[in-house]
Amino acid sequence: MRQSTIQVTGVERKFGANELIVTKTDPKGVITYANDVFLRISAFTEDEVIGKPHNVIRHPDMPKTLFKLLWDTVSARRELFAYVLNLAGDGAQYWVLAHVTASFDDRGSIVGYHSNRRSPSPRAVTEAKAVYDRVLAAERATAGRDALVAGERALRQELGGSSWDEFFWSITPGSTR
Ligand SMILES: Cc1cc2nc3c(=O)[nH]c(=O)nc-3n(C[C@H](O)[C@H](O)[C@H](O)COP(=O)(O)O)c2cc1C
Repeated sequence: MRQSTIQVTGVERKFGANELIVTKTDPKGVITYANDVFLRISAFTEDEVIGKPHNVIRHPDMPKTLFKLLWDTVSARRELFAYVLNLAGDGAQYWVLAHVTASFDDRGSIVGYHSNRRSPSPRAVTEAKAVYDRVLAAERATAGRDALVAGERALRQELGGSSWDEFFWSITPGSTR
């Protein structure tokens, strides 16, 4: 996969406040649809992403604990809001405010997932990143499978008894929740 050859440049890419980055996946997280904004910001062609696992844009600085939270949440039919750092095909990176949720057929079975992302507030990114960096450090300090256990423990500590949603909305400006 091209992902393994991407060199992280640290170049931060922005996108417009009125733009939405959209992808859809099958139930396993394989990309089935990507909109033009996704292709432009991610610097991929449609052929390079359709049929590929969504980790094609995974950034190494994102804690695996966050993706476990994502999958645990959406597979349990709940929606997830999160700030996510992604890696573009040209090595640039971009933060998004993502909303991920399942799609259902008329019998209520999950037929896939979709994610809509908008440009995040820089302050919210700073706050999310501080938490993610500490969770990532906990993961990296622990070898093997226990890394995820250590990451989840670190995230619980960061939340200090609050739920993920409470944390997310507490750092999100303009929230009326
Ligand atoms: C609809 C949907 C959208 C996703 N969007 C992203 C994304 O933007 N960036 C990302 O790194 N992972 C995204 N994921 C999660 C990936 O499937 C994967 O769990 C993650 O990249 C971690 O990959 P890894 O377990 O191979 O390290 C998404 C998953 C779904 C179902």
